[in-house]
Amino acid sequence: MSPKDITRRRLMEIGIKVMGGFISATSAFPIIGFITAPSLKQEEDKWIDVGAINDFPPGTYIKGVMESQVKDGWYITKERALCWIKVDGDKIVAVSATCSHLGCNVYWDEASKNFKCPCHAGVYDSEGKVIKGPPPRALDRLQVKVEGERILVNSIPVPYGEGKNV
Ligand code: FES
Repeated sequence: MSPKDITRRRLMEIGIKVMGGFISATSAFPIIGFITAPSLKQEEDKWIDVGAINDFPPGTYIKGVMESQVKDGWYITKERALCWIKVDGDKIVAVSATCSHLGCNVYWDEASKNFKCPCHAGVYDSEGKVIKGPPPRALDRLQVKVEGERILVNSIPVPYGEGKNV
């Protein structure tokens, strides 16, 4: 073997190692992205129009429907959640309809002035605090704002008693 052959062989080895490293690195990026993306994803904070103020007669809870689109990569899906809205003078309260036990939708019972869950007989008072049954905590609240004549609620629920404007 001449020194020229050794140099060529060595050069080939280095070239193969560099190419191998490049291929390994470029194929690792999507894998790392796939593993870490869900933990970096933040819940999107959005305001959802639930209707005109006139749709909510004052003094009692009226059901509000929160419909929105969620984009996840190439997929766009529609999400739908319920809430209960009470207009009381200048104050507007929005209570999440999602039971804190296993997530069924609670309904407002005008006769007893309580929220009731049909799934396991959970009962909440008019503030959303637990009175009876298995729910471990109060119903969440939703931030509310008014734009023009429309009521908007925030998609991210706030635990009862936390945050402001809820
Ligand atoms: S889901 Fe509401 S009481 Fe169980």
